[in-house]
Amino acid sequence: MVPDDNISIGENLDLESVFLESGGEARNLEEFKAIARQFDELMMMFSCAIREVRTKLEVLNDEFKVRRSHNPIESIESRVKKPASIYEKLLRRGFPVTLDSIENNLHDVAGIRVICGYVQDIYQIARMLIAQNDITLLEVKDYIKDPKPNGYRSLHLVVEVPVFFSDECRKLKVEVQIRTIAMDFWATLEHQLKYKNSGEVPDTIVRELRSCSDVIAETDMRMQSLYNSLHLGEGEDHGSYV
Ligand code: GTP
Ligand code: MG
Repeated sequence: MVPDDNISIGENLDLESVFLESGGEARNLEEFKAIARQFDELMMMFSCAIREVRTKLEVLNDEFKVRRSHNPIESIESRVKKPASIYEKLLRRGFPVTLDSIENNLHDVAGIRVICGYVQDIYQIARMLIAQNDITLLEVKDYIKDPKPNGYRSLHLVVEVPVFFSDECRKLKVEVQIRTIAMDFWATLEHQLKYKNSGEVPDTIVRELRSCSDVIAETDMRMQSLYNSLHLGEGEDHGSYV
């Protein structure tokens, strides 16, 4: 999903980086292996948390298809953050590089991106997800109502979901980014441009990107109006998240 920190679930972890990320605390091979196993276990838990939330989203989409003949979700992508990105973020934010710190301080180790057709679908899906009583909403950032200065638009939620393992129930954080196809198109290309230019984008390009984002937002609104005019009486929902 996210080009800079993509990892496929189950991909072999780099044990050397785990060792380094432990702060070099392992004094021998056995300790090193134990840390690696615990890291592996934590990543497994996050990938299970992704599956739990993903299933909830798929269930909502299936229900909408059958009951309302509408497909609010076009696609879902997910990823567990790569060890190198985890390490870099902990350092950047000044957090200790330990397993507890990963769990307590980072909210995007498990990430899900939901791509919707229409803006109203975004808010509907978000509301229905957080209304579920096993989901705890920890944070909302509505970059649709308040786009970032560069033009980035998306609804970000951080939720906590319980996952049942053989001997315990763990509550794990999952970051859910929800946006339209058009917003996703912009975010993907903007990310690539930034990445290709090592984060340094000339002012003219920054202004042009912002302008493209405004055009996209306007088009999203027009598409929403088209949809609404063809589905009169189905309950309009222009509302924002709350
Ligand atoms: P980081 O997770 O460190 O980036 O900061 P944060 O926790 O304050 O997160 P925020 O909710 O602002 O953004 C988290 C994620 O949203 C990023 O990792 C990206 O996937 C995406 N995102 C945020 N801003 C931008 C942006 O300007 N452009 C693009 N393409 N993606 C963005
Ligand atoms: Mg984040």
